[in-house]
Amino acid sequence: MTAAQSLNLVPFVSVHHMMQIILETGVERFLGELSAYIEEDFRRWEAFDKTPRVASHSREGVIELMPTSDGRHYGFKYVNGHPKNTREGRQTVTAFGVLADVSNGYPLLISEMTLLTALRTAATSALAARYLAPEGADCMALVGNGAQAEFQALAFRETLGIRKLRLYDIDPGATRKCLRNLAGLGFEMTACSSAEEAVEGAHIITTATADKQFATILTDNMVGAGTHINAVGGDCPGKTELHRDILLRADIFVEYPPQTRIEGEIQQLAPDHPVEELWRVITGQAAGRRDRQQVTLFDSVGFATEDFSALRYVRDRIRETGHFIELDLLADPDEPRDLFGMLLRFPGSSLLAEKERGLAS
Ligand SMILES: NC(=O)c1ccc[n+]([C@@H]2O[C@H](COP(=O)([O-])OP(=O)(O)OC[C@H]3O[C@@H](n4cnc5c(N)ncnc54)[C@H](O)[C@@H]3O)[C@@H](O)[C@H]2O)c1
Repeated sequence: MTAAQSLNLVPFVSVHHMMQIILETGVERFLGELSAYIEEDFRRWEAFDKTPRVASHSREGVIELMPTSDGRHYGFKYVNGHPKNTREGRQTVTAFGVLADVSNGYPLLISEMTLLTALRTAATSALAARYLAPEGADCMALVGNGAQAEFQALAFRETLGIRKLRLYDIDPGATRKCLRNLAGLGFEMTACSSAEEAVEGAHIITTATADKQFATILTDNMVGAGTHINAVGGDCPGKTELHRDILLRADIFVEYPPQTRIEGEIQQLAPDHPVEELWRVITGQAAGRRDRQQVTLFDSVGFATEDFSALRYVRDRIRETGHFIELDLLADPDEPRDLFGMLLRFPGSSLLAEKERGLAS
């Protein structure tokens, strides 16, 4: 096949392929390498076009488009968030995404991003915690034991060596699922009967609950001095997890302030409440954790550059793993302007037959 003939084809990574890539790579190596791509892109933050994601809200959830570009590549993710979905056998969050070549606008990759979102969210959380968690942290409370939970646990083990987990979910079945899935993977796990019990002795608290309301998963009295909070579940207007008093006490770190002020925990604060941008900490322009007493909060909502990094990583990996198929996605006429001619030349074209009848009469 010549290069000209293959212009119609775009590599597509299905869920099946993604699972093959993850398992062949090993989840921990995947998380580590993905985290390096995410960090690399945070380090060149100023090179990216940035905009708060475009969100379409409904009573039950949200559908979002998350675009960004570094001038060379363009990426976007389609993602939903519907907390009630699990009651109907569907997931709260599903996603897919595209990476494209800015020089000609042609897509370079289409990929499933449901698994990839869980991995990139966990990798970003762990990356932030490298700069913000107290030194020597070895115990994490994990409140909300749904789809994201195991990925968070593995990323924190890979990055910070966290081996002790204290798990809580309002649905004990979710905690049992998490215990079962992580058994044998080197964790010391405790199932707790309340969030209060889960945070006892934890140096890091990850909240990854799903509920479309101003929820109060943590109150101020539950957060001891020196704790790092990784707040993952509050990521939409009217959907938060932390009591406001925690925010007033913590040093707050965010991805992209214009988006986080709409969607994150800080939607509960004045629009000019001081926050620090994670990229500035990563590049050494701002301090991360300064002392052992400080309460740090990563107010995670998920930003487009993290998905861009993830797509970039997958594109690099598919060449080596071969786990993709090529989709006939782009119309590729022999002569670029003869798009209509493609229809005429299609084998058995009814248009061609009609034309021929017309010309004959
Ligand atoms: N920040 C990001 O980048 C990012 C990325 C992905 C998902 N998320 C968010 O993270 C959250 C978790 O996502 P998921 O895919 O794991 O959802 P999920 O529905 O699979 O799991 C959520 C879990 O939270 C539990 N829960 C709900 N209310 C609770 C409460 N009050 N106390 C304890 N547990 C409670 C539910 O029982 C469920 O097991 C969602 O809100 C999602 O929108 C954020």
